[in-house]
Amino acid sequence: MTSSQAFSTKFDKVCYILDKYGHDPHMLIAILQEIQAEYSYLPEDIMTYVATALGISPGQVFGAATFYAHFTLEPKGKYVIRVCDGTACHVKKSSDIIKTIQKELKLTDEKKTTPDMNFTLEMVACLGACGLAPVLVVNEDVHGAMDKDKTLKLLNDIREAIKANAE
Ligand code: FES
Repeated sequence: MTSSQAFSTKFDKVCYILDKYGHDPHMLIAILQEIQAEYSYLPEDIMTYVATALGISPGQVFGAATFYAHFTLEPKGKYVIRVCDGTACHVKKSSDIIKTIQKELKLTDEKKTTPDMNFTLEMVACLGACGLAPVLVVNEDVHGAMDKDKTLKLLNDIREAIKANAE
């Protein structure tokens, strides 16, 4: 694939989304939501492209992208692990779970995604499942009453699934 082909393939999906919303700047949030669903994050070059296509400033697009917490400007791993650190989970030692995952995946508070792009670790506020504390979510799957051993087993299960999918 030439670089110009890669460029057009990358932007094809964005063009489709922009067309779908009639290049209407009032639909910026919906457009960004669809782009994030497609790419799993909001790449900088695509946001600049969206600004030009909508006839608004890049600052407006970046402003919207940074205002709403559910938008992310960084690429995330295939498995996004969100550990709840709300009060109920914190009391039940969610910090041990966070430390276990960080140690196992060689992540830190600053380095949230593994270099192979398989895992991203995030800390979140109450997930609304306090009765299951401490809780973590892997993509959409909720895992309650977690402890260190269950966390290690879960990580191993995910690694096995990654390996099986690669074969
Ligand atoms: S505090 Fe963790 S689910 Fe509510």
